[in-house]
Amino acid sequence: MPIINTAKKSVKKNNQPPLRKEKKIRLTSRKPKIRKEFKRMTHPPQLLRGMKDILPADQKYWDFVRDKFFELSACYSFSRIDTPILEEEILFKRSIGDATDIVAKEMFNFLTLGGEKVVLRPEATASVARAYIEHGMINQPQPVKLAYMGPMFRYDRPQSGRQRQFHQVGWETIGEFNMAVDVQLIFMVYRFFQELGLNVTIGINSIGCGNCRPNYRKVLVDYYRGKRSKLCEDCRDRVNKNPLRVLDCKNPDCQELKSEAPQIVDWLCEECGGHFTKILEYLDELGVAYNLDPYLVRGLDYYTKTVFEVFSAELVEDGSRAPLALGGGGRYDSLIEMLGGRDVPACGVALGVERIVSLLKNSKIEAPIRYQPQVFLAQIGDQAKRKAFKLFEELRQEDIRVVEFFAKDSLKSQLEYADRLGVKYVLILGQKEVLDGTILLRDMEGGIQEIISLEKVVNELKKKFTKI
Ligand code: HAM
Repeated sequence: MPIINTAKKSVKKNNQPPLRKEKKIRLTSRKPKIRKEFKRMTHPPQLLRGMKDILPADQKYWDFVRDKFFELSACYSFSRIDTPILEEEILFKRSIGDATDIVAKEMFNFLTLGGEKVVLRPEATASVARAYIEHGMINQPQPVKLAYMGPMFRYDRPQSGRQRQFHQVGWETIGEFNMAVDVQLIFMVYRFFQELGLNVTIGINSIGCGNCRPNYRKVLVDYYRGKRSKLCEDCRDRVNKNPLRVLDCKNPDCQELKSEAPQIVDWLCEECGGHFTKILEYLDELGVAYNLDPYLVRGLDYYTKTVFEVFSAELVEDGSRAPLALGGGGRYDSLIEMLGGRDVPACGVALGVERIVSLLKNSKIEAPIRYQPQVFLAQIGDQAKRKAFKLFEELRQEDIRVVEFFAKDSLKSQLEYADRLGVKYVLILGQKEVLDGTILLRDMEGGIQEIISLEKVVNELKKKFTKI
């Protein structure tokens, strides 16, 4: 262990100038003993129910999803938008709908000190629509294409795949009726999962518009009227308030009744039917594998025409073993106007990041490492550590991916760490090398070791990496 000298002042009784006494202190990484000035909590605070920490080991999967998402966003000209996590309660009540589970049962709402009714956003489509209106985006060339990533909050019953705080990535295309918008979003979702290496199926349906949906709703209510007693308690209520949601219920009895229920495709108006047919033709041409699901409806009220959901056979809900959606979206041509904006059509999709990460891990897909270290810089002794701090920065400035473990003095611990990182080279700087102005370079693959000048080491390494 390195030894340094300090001087201790002492005063002679006869008023002679103080003599400097040498005292040897050992440099140590042992924790010094300090008197505690606090009271230790007997019960350490814990995570709230339904919340999760995203730990370092998982970050590579998150980077993989995030990078792929924003790469595709840039390719398809989507600009990033970030909206606040906290919004006015009325925004979601009006857009998602009072009778939906999200609004009726799952909102994280509270009163601020100023008396405002606010909500931790349960989703971002309504927020993006608000931002579109508020910032006059209608004056920009249409459609406006926006991409986002962020946390959402739903006071759901926590279980695997279902959290109270979760993250979504999403794309919203606002200001265009053209079915090409719907096709592009579905195609992007398909490509996104393909490029992540995940097998998914896309369910698709059309739920019509203000012209045709009321007719379908009527026949659906008629169908369920005589069968109310066979429905679950929630659905008995839903039949009057929001009959389409009965089709989405996971209860086995409701599922059984659904199989005979009328299908909305038979009730679509000419405009909605034509729009939907064209989308399917395009998807066929693009080779997108999809399932036509005549009973697919969504848990949010703002949709018109196209709706779709993405599933993986491997991701299932704990209790019901029903497949968990990795994402969902659709057209919402009335939302902007409903929120007080102009009559502007839109279409979008959001994907659940936790569910995607969990699927990547289950499918044993290796997420690429963003920063694969090339060189490990080891140091022995105080002088070497000081030099190493500077050398590390010089190497970094030259874009050499260098790593260190300056917190450790022992060479053994440092080399063990270097081994785990899988670096190609290790640089070793000791007391002797500092005095000689040299450094040891070890090739970890070939096992060859050479002594090179400390002054030239940066250039030597640059040469080695340009050769590779
Ligand atoms: P959503 O279907 O409610 O749609 O949510 C999209 C995705 O978020 C779900 O498919 C799921 O992967 C994930 N997700 C939802 N709730 C949870 C939860 N409690 N825990 C974990 N993941 C969850 C929307 O939010 C719409 N805004 C989508 C959209 C965008 N429509 C048009 N544009």
